[in-house]
Amino acid sequence: MVSSPFLLPLALLLSFTLLFVFPLNQSHFSFFGDLQDIALFHRATIRTSHLVVVGSGSGGGVSSVSRLGITSNPKPKIAFLFLTNSDLFFAPLWERFFRGHGLRYNIYIHADPSVELNQPGGVFDGRFIPARRTERASPTLITAARRLLAHAVIDDPLNLYFALVSQRCIPIHSFDFMYNFLFKNSVTSLRSFSSKSTYKSYIEILSDEPNLYERYIARGATAMLPEVPFERFRVGSQFFILTRNHAALVVKERKLWRKFKLPCLGEEPCYPEEHYFPTLLSMEDPQGCSHYTLTRVNWTGCWDGHPHLYSPEEVSPALIQTLRQSNSSYSFFFARKFSPEALTPLMEIADDVIFRD
Ligand SMILES: *[C@@H]1O[C@H](CO)[C@@H](O)[C@H](O)[C@H]1NC(C)=O
Ligand SMILES: *[C@@H]1O[C@H](CO)[C@@H](O)[C@H](O)[C@H]1NC(C)=O
Repeated sequence: MVSSPFLLPLALLLSFTLLFVFPLNQSHFSFFGDLQDIALFHRATIRTSHLVVVGSGSGGGVSSVSRLGITSNPKPKIAFLFLTNSDLFFAPLWERFFRGHGLRYNIYIHADPSVELNQPGGVFDGRFIPARRTERASPTLITAARRLLAHAVIDDPLNLYFALVSQRCIPIHSFDFMYNFLFKNSVTSLRSFSSKSTYKSYIEILSDEPNLYERYIARGATAMLPEVPFERFRVGSQFFILTRNHAALVVKERKLWRKFKLPCLGEEPCYPEEHYFPTLLSMEDPQGCSHYTLTRVNWTGCWDGHPHLYSPEEVSPALIQTLRQSNSSYSFFFARKFSPEALTPLMEIADDVIFRD
């Protein structure tokens, strides 16, 4: 890896050379962006190679002493990563979800820069990270998720869980419910967090999708070989909650990324973001993953790659109770997709239903 003092001059020299040699087009413009991403992932990798001791809320843990000599007892945090290409429709609902928990979360937003957003303000104010265009059926959604993970990893060593959501996701439990589930009510140190197998990533990993083979050959029959033989190719929900260890693994990873960033050839189903993360984690640490997602989505009767979109008329306390239920011992935390107009009825049942558990 090139070290930082030389990276920028080298990049500039190379870029100008390329601009003279090749005509201007989209791919050459993105050369700068690609270099910025590489530098970002590199910084994140360095940051995650050191462990930091984190204080425990329940006593008996390690406390940190600040420069002012005040003993603080920092709590581990959940980094919420919002991946969006439109307004954050449910910002007021999220605002209520986060209220009163300021020291236990951080927010990072990756918004497609080609879209003019209404600034959400409040807890979202100033939480945007440098973003690049995202498009369906392209690897840009993978890079956007990796960018969010990298920023969150660098920004705060107390970020121990990373929850990726979209602008059409809503919370269906309270913050406390989620926090206590993820951290099992006690975390004594990042070291123990990293080594304890009880702290898993919540990511769906499936191998029985009917058109999995079509998805596998979307870049050409042998394009994924030898890194990813078909038997190891997996599918899962685009939205997940990763541990810090797994976030570090993702930002460092290059072998599989070289394959998954190849463009799809044609009309074949091509959803790289539904494959890269499940395939990588099932190869590297299957025991460290739940294999299920915590984000409920309704695919009943949907064939066009878009799940059921809940309208305002469908919102009710009964719907929230139904969406929480899973076939396992856990409850769903988030649900999607909701139409923007659903905000009003959701706010009406927020305190009495959604955040009561
Ligand atoms: C899922 O969506 C279908 C329509 O596509 C709807 O009839 C059904 O009630 C939805 N299920 C739940 C649990 O919301
Ligand atoms: C539970 O399992 C049944 C049968 O496999 C399935 O039809 C249903 O959609 C599942 N429910 C959820 C919430 O995953």
